[in-house]
Amino acid sequence: MFQNRQPLLHTNPSRGEETIAAALREGAALLAPATETARLEAEVLLAHVTGLTRTALLAHPERPLTADEWVRYRDLLARRRAGVPLPYLTGRVEFFGLEFVVTPEVLIPRPETETLVERALARDPQTVVDVGTGSGCVAVALAVRLPRARIYATDLSRAALRVAATNAHRHGVADRIRFLQADLASPLKGPVDLVVSNPPYVAEEEWASLPMSVREHEPRLALDGGPGGLRVIRRLLGDAARVLRPGGALLVEIGAAQGPAVAALARAAFPEAQVRIHPDLAGRDRILEVVL
Ligand SMILES: C[S@@+](CC[C@H](N)C(=O)[O-])C[C@H]1O[C@@H](n2cnc3c(N)ncnc32)[C@H](O)[C@@H]1O
Repeated sequence: MFQNRQPLLHTNPSRGEETIAAALREGAALLAPATETARLEAEVLLAHVTGLTRTALLAHPERPLTADEWVRYRDLLARRRAGVPLPYLTGRVEFFGLEFVVTPEVLIPRPETETLVERALARDPQTVVDVGTGSGCVAVALAVRLPRARIYATDLSRAALRVAATNAHRHGVADRIRFLQADLASPLKGPVDLVVSNPPYVAEEEWASLPMSVREHEPRLALDGGPGGLRVIRRLLGDAARVLRPGGALLVEIGAAQGPAVAALARAAFPEAQVRIHPDLAGRDRILEVVL
């Protein structure tokens, strides 16, 4: 199976062997200062470079690397060690059981955002606006699970919308998602069943305390929510009030410390509505739900 591959001969003369096993040992050692999951990440990067599954890597530890594979692997290891998030190196991440393409122009979808998708699915909406779609993970997951739903997905970032459109095509739902470069839901008139959003909600005061890999590598437009992290959420409440039908709902991902402040803003914007804050799987405040 591997006979046609040219083994590494000259790019790393200090090495005695250039097999998968040696590459994984070296990768794990190199990444150990940067991450607690060094061995696993080395496997993911080597699988990406070789086009093999992780299972195949482990089944063929004696397989030699080609010179080209070795160079590309070392490059990825160096970038990972310097703090580049793993999904930006492989260009892939799993969200809600689906594989998404990601580039440094989009936020890496987070597991806690799956709670937002679950809450949205529970409402079985037929018309949805996903505000700040980024990679398109929320819009695409909803479209896959709600085969009759029509979805509008907005973002200020044209580059993000290109990634989102790629993901919609990959999952066969592009015909039911309309991507719009827009501020919040501004081009839409409604009425829609659901407005869903994972907006930028990091408080600008807390920017410096974010992990370096987030601060330096993920798009600031996707994260920075201004003073208290509430700048976008506050404006989103107004837009949602304009486009939601009576009986419709707004679901917004929020920061763990924002529950009381966001609930107060929502009650002021929707005095007649039911306003609730739901926790994520770790028990932290995570989702604002407003039902009109
Ligand atoms: C936290 S990211 C969420 C991305 C994706 N929905 C997810 O959950 O992974 C927020 C997204 O909102 C976009 N955004 C920021 N301000 C916006 C605005 N005023 N109108 C529309 N999109 C905005 C950013 O470009 C970014 O893609």
